[in-house]
Amino acid sequence: MNAKIHTGTSDNIARALDHLRQGGLVAVPTETVYGLAADAANGEAVARIYAAKGRPSFNPLIAHVASAEIAMREGMFSAQASALADAFWPGPLTLVVDVAPHGTVSDLARAGLDSVALRMPAHPVALELLSSFGGPLVAPSANPSGQISPTSAAHVATDMADKVDMILDGGPCPAGIESTIIDARGDVPALLRPGSLDAAQIEAVWPGLIRPALNPDAPQSPGQLLRHYAPRATLRLNAESANEGEAYLGFGDHPSATLNLSPDKRLEEAAANLFSMLRTLDADYARIAVAPIPMTGLGEAIIDRLTRAAKSS
Ligand code: TXA
Ligand code: MG
Repeated sequence: MNAKIHTGTSDNIARALDHLRQGGLVAVPTETVYGLAADAANGEAVARIYAAKGRPSFNPLIAHVASAEIAMREGMFSAQASALADAFWPGPLTLVVDVAPHGTVSDLARAGLDSVALRMPAHPVALELLSSFGGPLVAPSANPSGQISPTSAAHVATDMADKVDMILDGGPCPAGIESTIIDARGDVPALLRPGSLDAAQIEAVWPGLIRPALNPDAPQSPGQLLRHYAPRATLRLNAESANEGEAYLGFGDHPSATLNLSPDKRLEEAAANLFSMLRTLDADYARIAVAPIPMTGLGEAIIDRLTRAAKSS
């Protein structure tokens, strides 16, 4: 095991806090994927994140908070935005709102925008770290920009060990796909990134959801880069079976699949397995064929990730 990996005990969380207060980088488990955390208010620490990920600095970061109360100091929440926070925090929902006049999230973390993306994660290690830290921590997924997101401490160590001060281990991420991002500034909610929170659940609290994310000509979220989550292998989607030399990533009953996202077609299970299985296959195969996934519920987020991963450039 990599020497930078430490179980998410209170002692190790305290050590992580020291790193963060000194402007360091700590990989942190969340319910979605592992994040690369830094003090959101410290521009130099934030700059280290962009450098460590090789991430373009026009792509802003999500600020993670320990409570809705803290979020509301950082951003301006409409009644509907507050209702979403009430309904789904802690949980895999990120809300983009106007930045508050005394917000502490640095300009660099917001990529100079007058909005801020906020989320309260549902993971005991992340929450203990955030409440001890007090202020917001920015945390993009802890992988090199454009590559497959990490859902275990070992994934982070493989990709980023030399770039982080410490990796807190909280076990495999239960949801496995990033948070759902909603632009909550308008009269209706806008889906900027499908994610672990099914869009239908948003609709139940705040109806009228629009999907600007599905219009590739007008990206609303700078992170809607076409190629993302990408393995080295080429992906072929909607494949009923493998061709010669291809690995087959199944969904549903498929006894000869190389790996299976969910033999009994459970989308939650498929989401939790997606990035980890892509990594495993990527290590051994140059070409991966992926079974059809239904475009319902979490299928929207899974297909979004697969489509970006399949783009060749
Ligand atoms: O589940 C998650 O959200 C994970 C875990 C670690 O919390 N984090 C994550 O962060 O996925 P990242 O940096 O990989 O994705 C952040 C996304 C990007 O697509 C970015 O463009 C968008 O959030 N974003 C951040 N601030 C924004 C803003 N002010 N307006 C629009 N989009 C924003
Ligand atoms: Mg990411």
